[in-house]
Amino acid sequence: MTDKRALRGRLLDFIADPAVAGQEAVRYIEDGILVMEGGHIVARGTAAELLPALGGVPLDDWGGRLIVPGFIDLHIHYPQSRVIAAFGTQLMDWLERYTFPEESRLADPAVATAMASFFLDELLSNGTTTAVVYGTVHAAATDAFFAESERRNTRMIAGKSMMDRNAPPWLMDTAQGSYDAVTDLIGRWHGRGRQLYAVTPRFAVTSTDEQLEAAAALLAEHPSVFLQTHLSENDKEIALVREIYPWARNYADVYRHFGLMGPRSLFGHSIHLDDEEIEMLAESGSAAVFCPTSNTFLGSGLFDRERLAAGGVSIGLATDVGGGTSYSMLETAGEAYKVLQLRRQTLRPFDAFHMLTRGNAGVLGLGHLIGSFDVGSEADVAVLDARATPAMAHRMTAVEGDLEQELFVLMIMGDDRSVAATYVAGEPARRLGLA
Ligand code: GUN
Ligand code: ZN
Repeated sequence: MTDKRALRGRLLDFIADPAVAGQEAVRYIEDGILVMEGGHIVARGTAAELLPALGGVPLDDWGGRLIVPGFIDLHIHYPQSRVIAAFGTQLMDWLERYTFPEESRLADPAVATAMASFFLDELLSNGTTTAVVYGTVHAAATDAFFAESERRNTRMIAGKSMMDRNAPPWLMDTAQGSYDAVTDLIGRWHGRGRQLYAVTPRFAVTSTDEQLEAAAALLAEHPSVFLQTHLSENDKEIALVREIYPWARNYADVYRHFGLMGPRSLFGHSIHLDDEEIEMLAESGSAAVFCPTSNTFLGSGLFDRERLAAGGVSIGLATDVGGGTSYSMLETAGEAYKVLQLRRQTLRPFDAFHMLTRGNAGVLGLGHLIGSFDVGSEADVAVLDARATPAMAHRMTAVEGDLEQELFVLMIMGDDRSVAATYVAGEPARRLGLA
């Protein structure tokens, strides 16, 4: 028996960064076929080339819909699905009033499993097939997340939050306790099937020196794991970091000092950076992760994409649910465009779709596995419909035949309604969490 399956539609992916290579970076096949087998892409070409040889291979014909690689979200919190749209606060009060109490509920592994299940199904409904995910402080809740991801065969990168100060006592671990728990989690999950681990000291505010040292030790002992944390998001947070680490030259210097920067390190937000911090990120090969819906919702500030790019920093894009307000990477790209408008900068549609796919994969160093339709890549796919709502269909009549404008309609007007289907490792995704 074979699990071979083919998709027909308008294939779009990227072979390079359009911000650098221009139109040459765009790979578009108007009537294309993607053949998937064993979880991988085994052929890609025009229908004229590939259709005659398909024989009895099941074919999902998506007609005029756009077939793109599954989206990649570089920063999201799975325990915060019930925190989205919490009114009236900025970061530090938001954590205290809404987020920490909600995260406390995941001490119960059954709650964690239900949350993970809802969360992963929601990602798939939005065409997101890979995400870099924060768990709570509870190790069992991170086990629950990986178990649910494994059931769906999604490629997820996740980690248990490490917090040993400035949090409610029942949400704290210790430097040694977190080191031991994370060592176990890495042993159980990193590289098992499609699951990968990210060491996750929540942010400098909630870790002691000893815990940041423990995080660095974990990275040194497991060179292929990732690191994720928050950096320079909010003015009160930055003032607090200055107070707690009086010796540090700036916020980024805390992470640099403890050896947490490097090409597998992702720094969420990175909004209010000085030149030296930008240099630290660039020199270490660390990535800054732009979280636009969160940054506007929590009133954190406007990410300066041009300045960071000019400084040589690798930049990714993410939802940051539940500070972020949408699971949709389409909406996230739209909000990124709006933030950059306020900065008198821009985000071209091809650049945006590159970021959502091959770009974010490259930030992770996983471009050989995900983010494109290269033959041999893992077959994670989103099928998009720019005419999903009456308003979108109406708008589309004005830009018919223009791919760049169609992508812009998707990022400005699109959401989960524009995702007609999602395939995970070659299989159609279903809402496993629902009966
Ligand atoms: N900084 C520390 N924790 C968080 C979090 O959960 N969300 C956001 N947006 N920022 C943080
Ligand atoms: Zn976050």
